[in-house]
Amino acid sequence: MSIQWFPGHMHHTTRQIEELMPRIDVVIELLDARLPVSSQNPLIDALRGDTPCLKILNKKDLADPATTDAWVEWFNSQQGVQAMAVNAKLRPDVRKIPKICRRLNPLKDVSQKPVRTMIVGIPNVGKSTLINSIMGRKVARVGNEPAVTKTHQKSKMVDGMDLCDTPGMLWHKFDDPEVGLKLAAVGAIKDTAFDYELVAEYAVKFLRQNYAAELMQRYKLTELPQDTEELIKMIGAKRGCLVKGGAVDGSRASELIIREMREGKIGLVSFEHPQDYSLEDVDPDNDPELNF
Ligand code: G4P
Repeated sequence: MSIQWFPGHMHHTTRQIEELMPRIDVVIELLDARLPVSSQNPLIDALRGDTPCLKILNKKDLADPATTDAWVEWFNSQQGVQAMAVNAKLRPDVRKIPKICRRLNPLKDVSQKPVRTMIVGIPNVGKSTLINSIMGRKVARVGNEPAVTKTHQKSKMVDGMDLCDTPGMLWHKFDDPEVGLKLAAVGAIKDTAFDYELVAEYAVKFLRQNYAAELMQRYKLTELPQDTEELIKMIGAKRGCLVKGGAVDGSRASELIIREMREGKIGLVSFEHPQDYSLEDVDPDNDPELNF
């Protein structure tokens, strides 16, 4: 499965970021805690150069806590990067962000001015939610459909921090179809752009391998068949996803599993772990995809 990415939007966003960057002291990059590598765009690291970056692993309430801790440590080991995990819906989780950005500001000793920040991240990662929580009021629209183009929003001032939002068209070009499947599994890609059965097949296989106990508990299963299709059918039968005549409706069963997984009902699941990645995986100098 490949991501529908739009070169026009990408060029536009890239130009905007390039233009803004000289005026930015700290970049705030939002990642999905469940898949920090697939939800990032190496372009950001390339464009920011030496500008410090606060990498925020959002939706930590849906991710595997131990894996999220490992990711925070992994990102913290990178030059010029500080990482933290949050649930952007919770104000106590995000309250410290202006203070952290003020501390990261390289000009902090010579400037009494507010620290100038820019929030970047792929659609649906939680940028609007984060901005609203930081501001303590609703200033950005929270969408339920990823990839809705938003116009550039004006900057906002809070607690010694000038916060500038960017539109979310920031996918990078993927050759790896697994990246698309993972993004679809967590809901970062618009539902109409993918086939539930394909995504469920990928997700259920992953869950069986990595979160078997959670899967069995959620669907009250006493065994997990090796065959993924059979397993999806077993779950469908348990949950009454049937067509006329009593056969399992594979499409409905797939949709149910994906929806429940996105809501965290199967358990706290992370699709990526730092042990499977090297720093080169996120090093812009090693990414041929930047030349679009
Ligand atoms: P964006 O601006 O980056 O496109 O993302 P946005 O804030 O619109 O958030 C996309 C969806 O993710 C929203 O759900 C939002 O509530 C949810 N979300 C954001 N941060 C978190 C988090 O830390 N944890 C969890 N569990 N969800 C988060 P929605 O269903 O599309 O909208 P709504 O019904 O919640 O308003």
